Amino acid sequence: MLALYRKYRPATFADLIGHEVIVRILQEAARQDRIAHAYLFSGPRGTGKTTIARLIAKIANCEARQKQLAEAPMSKGGQNPNRSVGSEPCNACHACKSIDIGNALDVIEIDAASNRGIDEMRALKEHVRVSPSVLKHKVFIIDEAHQLTKEAANALLKTLEEPPSYVIIILATTEIEKIPATIASRTQKFQFKHPTLKIIIEKLKKIASAEKIKISDDALELIASSGEGSFRDAESLLDQMISLKGNEITTEAIESTLGKVGFHKIANFAEKILKGELEGTLDYLSNIAEEGTNLVQLTKDLIIHFRNTAVLKFDPMMSVHLENELVGEHLQKIKGHSKLFKNSHIETLKNLLKAYGQMRYSNFPIIPLEIALIESLNQKTA
Ligand SMILES: Nc1ncnc2c1ncn2[C@@H]1O[C@H](COP(=O)(O)OP(=O)(O)O)[C@@H](O)[C@H]1O
Ligand SMILES: [Mg+2]
Ligand SMILES: [Zn+2]
Repeated sequence: MLALYRKYRPATFADLIGHEVIVRILQEAARQDRIAHAYLFSGPRGTGKTTIARLIAKIANCEARQKQLAEAPMSKGGQNPNRSVGSEPCNACHACKSIDIGNALDVIEIDAASNRGIDEMRALKEHVRVSPSVLKHKVFIIDEAHQLTKEAANALLKTLEEPPSYVIIILATTEIEKIPATIASRTQKFQFKHPTLKIIIEKLKKIASAEKIKISDDALELIASSGEGSFRDAESLLDQMISLKGNEITTEAIESTLGKVGFHKIANFAEKILKGELEGTLDYLSNIAEEGTNLVQLTKDLIIHFRNTAVLKFDPMMSVHLENELVGEHLQKIKGHSKLFKNSHIETLKNLLKAYGQMRYSNFPIIPLEIALIESLNQKTA
């Protein structure tokens, strides 16, 4: 079975979520049939770099699109006046299909992390010299481009200086600062940003409904937040949960698979701390620990909850930012907690941060957390 993240990889620019500016520029280039010879995509993993690279490969080679463009009436400036003509691949012609399946000989994906050497780049140079075998353009997608060796980068540079007219080179990297300026300056550069949690949840929701999976918003949020800003990671986790649990996925099932608790448990925990209930708090922590929860992750989530609560207390305008990272109901909960947050709780937050630093390398991760809670909550009575 096809992995979900592949099944739901956007097949058109219209399907892509976010990256509006990048999409507008590329579609305009497509409309004018002026695709660049070299691109450099940078940004976090799972945000659409490979997806857009393949869209460019399809646009450059789509047979139906070529026909559309040739038939479209041109305005005086030689420009195609119809906004939609030529700006999407057809996804039905031989070229589009072979690229989607991944067996187009003329679309070459290279992982620079495992093909770092000069020999591979020499082979690439040779490859570049030979015209495409089937398609109109030969497209090289070089992933993790920052891993290329100096020699390999030099070889690539030669190609970028004088690319044959049929060649398109797309470099993708998660570490833009490691790309030599000489290479970067010969490309058109696009920076990809993390999608918000809300956006990832929306996509997961669509996938769940298409796959007829029963899953709550809470559970979707937990999956999305575990993806840490990567569509792919979130989609893969949803995939994994479907294999494990079938078509009904509960928050508890995700919690026990991940060893990470959902919003409600974090919120209950935080509420006990904010209300100063030392006994209830330690008991609650023990229960969570017995469920096999990763306590370092728990502390991290608790810190984020306290941080959100604090910033909202001191600056209510922060809700504009928090809206992107929280579903509505959860934001309401945090608003409630911000009313319980007192200046003294800044100390609690500091204690939690300190505990987090200690827990990560400790054989007894629960102890720094318990000490942080005791120190924070005991102060008022001592
Ligand atoms: N902007 C996006 N809109 C919708 N889905 C996306 C987007 N970016 C990534 N995805 C999803 O994540 C998967 C991996 O994306 P990919 O383009 O391979 O990421 P990258 O190359 O940046 O690591 C895609 O197959 C798709 O399902
Ligand atoms: Mg990629
Ligand atoms: Zn096509």
